[in-house]
Amino acid sequence: MSSFEEAEARLLERIEMLGEVTDTPGALTRTFLSRANQEAAALVASWMKGAGMRVGHDAGGTIRGVLGANIERRTPNIEHRSERQREEGDAARPLLLGSHIDTVIDAGKYDGALGVLIAIAALEVTGPLAFPVHVLGFSDEEGVRFQATYLGSRACVGALGAEMLEMRDAEGISLEEALERARAGKLREGEGRPTQNIERRRSPVEGVQVEASVPAVVSAELEHPLSGIRLEEFRYGPGECRGYVEVHIEQARVLEEAGEAVGVVSAISGQSRLKITIRGQADHAGTTPMHLRKDALTGAAECVLAVERLARDSANAAAGLMATVGKLEVSPGAGNVIPGEVRFALDFRHPDDGERERLLEGLLGQFGDIAAARGLEAFAKTMQSNAAVPCDAALTARLLDAAEPLTGKRRLLPSGAGHDGVMMATAMPIAMLFVRCRAGLSHHPDEYASPEDVGAALKVLVEFLRGVG
Ligand code: GLV
Ligand code: MN
Ligand code: MN
Repeated sequence: MSSFEEAEARLLERIEMLGEVTDTPGALTRTFLSRANQEAAALVASWMKGAGMRVGHDAGGTIRGVLGANIERRTPNIEHRSERQREEGDAARPLLLGSHIDTVIDAGKYDGALGVLIAIAALEVTGPLAFPVHVLGFSDEEGVRFQATYLGSRACVGALGAEMLEMRDAEGISLEEALERARAGKLREGEGRPTQNIERRRSPVEGVQVEASVPAVVSAELEHPLSGIRLEEFRYGPGECRGYVEVHIEQARVLEEAGEAVGVVSAISGQSRLKITIRGQADHAGTTPMHLRKDALTGAAECVLAVERLARDSANAAAGLMATVGKLEVSPGAGNVIPGEVRFALDFRHPDDGERERLLEGLLGQFGDIAAARGLEAFAKTMQSNAAVPCDAALTARLLDAAEPLTGKRRLLPSGAGHDGVMMATAMPIAMLFVRCRAGLSHHPDEYASPEDVGAALKVLVEFLRGVG
């Protein structure tokens, strides 16, 4: 066990260290099962072990630390029991804490990492509780690599369906192959393995080598980032756990405007992610008459503007619609060829599921009209669709109780961002604590939560853990 001050200081240091583990020197990027993602898991594992946890790694790439129960602190509890646990006794039912260790491209260092590291720090302060606690570092929450989110937490609750295993990344690697490679200890094509503290990585400029530092604990200890970590399947069935609690930066401005360090989440907004394809005809840029062209990019551009128009409509904006096109691929992608096909990613969120579905249907209709008017074809593929998820009343009340002495408020706020709790909620009650982040900025390298606010969140989590029955 550690003093609060020691654990807090280590937490702040670890946030910095984990923020250095990246696939792209000069920017923080750790996508699902990339080398850096696996190195991050190994680094987190070393901290979990230091905090007295047994560490395992599941087939979905999630790192898990288990802190066994302190038998003397055990108390009976009768809610949410599975058959197995009734036989074993309720004391075995674990509480889950954590967040994700993957990042977006050119990310900030708090999104995800904070929730994993603060859980370890809190348990360093409390020591074992009356029941087991599992700390989870999910391998994928952002969905960058396969354009479908929550892969780590999905696997943990048994929701990674066979159809998802066929999804392919930009290199054509299927999700199933990616998981097999990680299981077999192989990295992705073109990725070497760290052998010393300073390693050479491929520069974006062909043939030019750049140097990037890797934390010594990773490269000194490990041949393959996952070696030494037990691979095991772990899965949480309905009713088997006390709940899942995640600490995360707010990624919006509510707490900043209220002048409060932390707040408690009421619900997580629903979201749909789609891949839209606009198909036309590639042709010569210098000879094809303008009125005969089937330019997929000009059609896609109109669609993107239709997305923006819909989300900026004052009624939709006031109701909380958020719609974004954040990725666009143009084929064949040459300056002197009319674009024959464009694929773009549509991210569509609304606090009200019915409205999300209604507005999305209308928008897809507009895409069809835009395409038809230009002699193009439009296709939409839903990559994922999640309903809004309310947080559990009892766990939320406990978090509010723990936060109130610090902030003087019982602040509840919604989450527009998606979180692993969406998946975990299919098998257990969930709750979330938000930490103020500067200017609400996130998914950006300047993302920042002050040491004081991180310390405040640690205090609340420790207090919360001490009060959970
Ligand atoms: C996760 O960061 C999201 O996209 O909401
Ligand atoms: Mn994120
Ligand atoms: Mn996140």
